[in-house]
Amino acid sequence: EAKTEIIVNNINFKADNFTNVTPKILSHLNINLHTKKYHPLSLVRQRLVNYFYKTYVTNRGNPIFSVYDNLSPLVTIEQNFNSLLIPENHPSRAKSDCYYINKNYLLRAHTTAHQSELIRAGLNAFLIIGDVYRRDEIDKTHYPVFHQVDGVYIKNRSSVFPNDDCLQLFEKGNNITSTGTEQKQACHTLEAVKLMEYDLKSALENLAKELFGHGIEYRWVETYFPFTQPSWELEIFHSNQWMELLGCGIMKQNILENAGAGDNIGWAFGIGLERLAMCLYNIPDIRLFWSSDTGFLNQFITDNISAKINYKAISHYPQCTNDISFWLPRNDYSSNDFYDLVRSIGGDIIEQVSLVDEFCHPKSGRISHCYRIVYRHMEKTLTQDEVNKIHKDIEKAAIDQLNVTIR
Ligand code: PHE
Repeated sequence: EAKTEIIVNNINFKADNFTNVTPKILSHLNINLHTKKYHPLSLVRQRLVNYFYKTYVTNRGNPIFSVYDNLSPLVTIEQNFNSLLIPENHPSRAKSDCYYINKNYLLRAHTTAHQSELIRAGLNAFLIIGDVYRRDEIDKTHYPVFHQVDGVYIKNRSSVFPNDDCLQLFEKGNNITSTGTEQKQACHTLEAVKLMEYDLKSALENLAKELFGHGIEYRWVETYFPFTQPSWELEIFHSNQWMELLGCGIMKQNILENAGAGDNIGWAFGIGLERLAMCLYNIPDIRLFWSSDTGFLNQFITDNISAKINYKAISHYPQCTNDISFWLPRNDYSSNDFYDLVRSIGGDIIEQVSLVDEFCHPKSGRISHCYRIVYRHMEKTLTQDEVNKIHKDIEKAAIDQLNVTIR
């Protein structure tokens, strides 16, 4: 018997012939990888946000962009499609491409779904960051849940033409619904569009340089989106091929008009976080972002979000964890000496070593350290016996070479 009700985020929905979300897909809601501390998607998010915070400031030095990274992915057809002028028969609305809750609601297919409501709320410059859902094959580069950042910047006449009282944003007598050309919407003046295009393209080129370094090769490709005109994609040359990084364009004037901001002109872009992170950190498979394996996650623990991190493949075999605690010698000890010793004895089967506890004896003042060593072999499952043997060797070497006293 078909389900007649479906519960998403504690809200009851009536199922209908559109309903195609699965419990497996719904299990990804509220995970919020993009705000999880030290997650690679979170590192990339912070780099993007910081770039906009520092690039666009008011004359008092405050950021112009505000950030929305916590909006619910449960949206209406109106938000995801209608408000963005996506035609009724557009393929992106197909049941085969989206996760519908029912005929009125779906899991957002892009973070662009929120742009119109935020403009209506009075915002001029903002970033929307979150999880998006699309039905797709699953392979190394596709996963039905991924993350996007959308950006919108809308400007009035005097901020587009700060030094001129005559130049206008809009052509007189041109209705906002007339089609226009590849080059511009009929309602916009060429000078306004050219300045906005320059502003948009330099913002995104500089973002690419900030992330990938100043030597990054890039190119602009003209494209089509229902909600921008003209529209472009930015491609970068990465590991010997051109790769699409983001989509962007001059916002359709109708969207601004409908959101109560029709006196302004705007640009918008959308960028996928997974692809960015995969390039930046050499992560070979999109499914790794959902891994809870510390062999993956711990490679991204850094307090410098711009640190160069080069992901190293983790083993498919299980981890084996052993702790070691000892009193430090009175002088001349550094944790790095211990790390080197562990690596020289354990070799490649040492996946991680970290200091997990430090203790100072209240009477003697002696200091004790506890380290956690994660053992893992690239080609086989290690037995506890094998690990114990190496662990004992490490203990012995620590006593002999570092003068520690095992507890
Ligand atoms: N929403 C588009 C996508 O998901 C990206 C985009 C956003 C393009 C905003 C233009 C403007 O591919």
